[in-house]
Amino acid sequence: MRILMVCLGNICRSPIAEGLLAHKVEQQGLDIEVDSAGTSGFHQGEQADARMRATAKDFGVPIDYIRSRQFVVSDFDKFDIIFAMDSSNYNNIVALARSEEDKMKVRLMLNESHPGMNMAVPDPYYGGDQGFVEVYQLLDEATEAFLNSIK
Ligand code: 4NP
Repeated sequence: MRILMVCLGNICRSPIAEGLLAHKVEQQGLDIEVDSAGTSGFHQGEQADARMRATAKDFGVPIDYIRSRQFVVSDFDKFDIIFAMDSSNYNNIVALARSEEDKMKVRLMLNESHPGMNMAVPDPYYGGDQGFVEVYQLLDEATEAFLNSIK
């Protein structure tokens, strides 16, 4: 199975979503590939935001290897599930879908842990350090719920 995590910049929310899921997959010996992308290419080639990397390090989740890239239409062919961090990301990805099959691959990440609530992972970019810990905790819970749902 191949999973893609998507946010706006691919420097805050989706890199930690990728890192958390990849870390759990490795620990549990599962056959799942994980990647992430941004709907924008503003931060193409950059590492995750230093505040997100510091939070990831505090919790022991590797994300320093991740480089930002923009979502491309061929990602619909490569991935089985595309998790959007908020409804704006969701709408931007669905707008690029070429078919119903493409659209059906797109889900809101927090519906894994909070089914049907359509909750957003809040964008921490313009806020303080606590926002990054909150993002970490929401995505720890959501990736855990996702893995439990497929076991
Ligand atoms: P992300 O956060 O979508 O979680 O990576 C953002 C990062 C950068 C910007 C917006 C959101 N930006 O506007 O540069």
